[in-house]
Amino acid sequence: MKYRAVAMQRPGGPEVLALVELERQRPAAGQVLLRQLAAGVNYIDVQHRTGRYPIARYPAVIGMEAVGMVEEVGTGVTECKPGDRVAYSTPPAGAYAEWRVMPSHRLVPVPASLDDALAGGSFLRGLTAQYLVKRTFPVASGHAIVVHAAAGGVGQILCQWAKYLGATVIGTVGSEQKVALARECGCDLVLVNGRDDVPARVREATAGAGADVVYDSIGPATFEASLASLKSRGLLVTFGTASGPLPPLDLFRLNQMGSLFVTSAGLFDYTKERKELLERASDYFDALARGIVRVAVQHRYRLGEAAQAHAELQGRRTTGPIVLIP
Ligand SMILES: NC(=O)c1ccc[n+]([C@@H]2O[C@H](COP(=O)([O-])OP(=O)(O)OC[C@H]3O[C@@H](n4cnc5c(N)ncnc54)[C@H](OP(=O)(O)O)[C@@H]3O)[C@@H](O)[C@H]2O)c1
Repeated sequence: MKYRAVAMQRPGGPEVLALVELERQRPAAGQVLLRQLAAGVNYIDVQHRTGRYPIARYPAVIGMEAVGMVEEVGTGVTECKPGDRVAYSTPPAGAYAEWRVMPSHRLVPVPASLDDALAGGSFLRGLTAQYLVKRTFPVASGHAIVVHAAAGGVGQILCQWAKYLGATVIGTVGSEQKVALARECGCDLVLVNGRDDVPARVREATAGAGADVVYDSIGPATFEASLASLKSRGLLVTFGTASGPLPPLDLFRLNQMGSLFVTSAGLFDYTKERKELLERASDYFDALARGIVRVAVQHRYRLGEAAQAHAELQGRRTTGPIVLIP
């Protein structure tokens, strides 16, 4: 039986994303066949599409997260059964599709209270915000933190959660139009990149000290300002490169700037073990249920409109989750 998916024959602009028909597979041992209900469009998909994160083989179906209904399970599957609604946020890529076979140990049960679009469009971003505020740097009362792209998908969740944990949250955005949204997400101060002197304003807001941690998903455009915004022994968490590849860093500069720490963090290293994956998922779902973080899905597209979704995300015109509804 055939199903539809969004595949690309080569790296390139949004136009390389096209609908194709593929043959449905049966699940092998340890695998599950999913009827996909909503697939998230994330910035990592843009990096896959452009070839900045290389793809081994073409044609390639991209997409790292979705929510789906379990239709059939292979032998030895214990994590779920037919009729369960589950989410995933994991390699290998291939989520932009009506059907998909996935390894069962990467699937997480979804609470009934979450609708398909919210679960399928915010799971990856929610897990990311979770490990960033709980594990990479455990945010607590008294911390001053900087979050770049504060009105973006990850940024909105990160800001709300850090505010709930008691931090002073300084967000940055790329334009005036996004300031109000960043404020609604808990930012005590919102700076506009390109307009404001970010390090100077961060020091002003922290009695000269600087921030305990800067979460930077933008990359080269903000990297120097991020380092210069930190307090002595502060931590720069780079976790994305929306503005391009990062330059090399002379480690001795960290000594000269105040014995700074830098890490380049990736979700899949924080969710490798199933136990850790389930704990982070449960913490995110709980944060949604308790209203600690509120996530509105404003951007919905049909599977065949994936190119448009990519153009909007890359053009900085989206705020929050983007979903493809197969
Ligand atoms: N390492 C991990 O574990 C992990 C996991 C998930 C996501 N990420 C990263 O986190 C970031 C946010 O992901 P997301 O999917 O939620 O996207 P998003 O934040 O909704 O969109 C990206 C935002 O980055 C900002 N930006 C700044 N310079 C840009 C440029 N040159 N081109 C495009 N955007 C630019 C824009 O906000 P402004 O207009 O306000 O500047 C844009 O809206 C991405 O960099 C992604 O790769 C990392």
